[in-house]
Amino acid sequence: MSQDTLKRLVSQAAADYILTRIPEGAVIGIGTGSTVNYLIDALASHKVFNARYHGAVSSSNATTARLKMHGIKVLDLNDIETLPVYIDGADEINHHGHMIKGGGGALTREKIIAQVAEIFICIADASKRVNTLGHFALPVEIIPLARAALSRKFLALGGRPVLRTTANGAPYLTDNGNQIIDVHGLQITDPVTLEAKINSWPGVVTVGLFAKRPANLCLLASATGIEMIEY
Ligand code: A5P
Repeated sequence: MSQDTLKRLVSQAAADYILTRIPEGAVIGIGTGSTVNYLIDALASHKVFNARYHGAVSSSNATTARLKMHGIKVLDLNDIETLPVYIDGADEINHHGHMIKGGGGALTREKIIAQVAEIFICIADASKRVNTLGHFALPVEIIPLARAALSRKFLALGGRPVLRTTANGAPYLTDNGNQIIDVHGLQITDPVTLEAKINSWPGVVTVGLFAKRPANLCLLASATGIEMIEY
């Protein structure tokens, strides 16, 4: 079964989960990435979605565009008081629900919304499950002025910092107008401590480690079906 098929299957399962478990009138927090794109399509295919829910809070411009394309109302996080659920993909997830995220560049808004949500549901294909985080390069959103200073700090940590670029070689810019350094070669044995440490460095906007606020539930798709893991 292809990774794409697994992403589609887990998204359908997640859409069913939301429609059966999340109460009417709620706002749903929606992440970013290829798995989430399938989720948005799956939610929109349930004709009751718009009648049942007040709308969605979006973690990126790309997600906002897709939600709107399907006629799903997008709300500003500042205008809502409670968010029962945030649902998003991950680049890696360990056995404690700690994740590396930000492969799609939306890590800052993802972390803000995840922090507000009562429950964080991660949806992924089973290839994302790891024992130790770090095989996937760790994305860090940074203020451009701090790039060289922060790169030296990542080198001192034992990582290999690489500025993310677009196809034409220009620095990749996030929806917030910042740059991303992808740090390769880290073996992240203590994600909670590393997240706090990198967050404390001036110039870091957000590190793509989600350990202080891990997932509460993960739906993982493999050839044998959908596994539901609670943390
Ligand atoms: C977006 O910034 C990321 O955090 C995504 O959630 C992550 O990269 C997973 O993306 P895919 O669903 O495309 O694998």
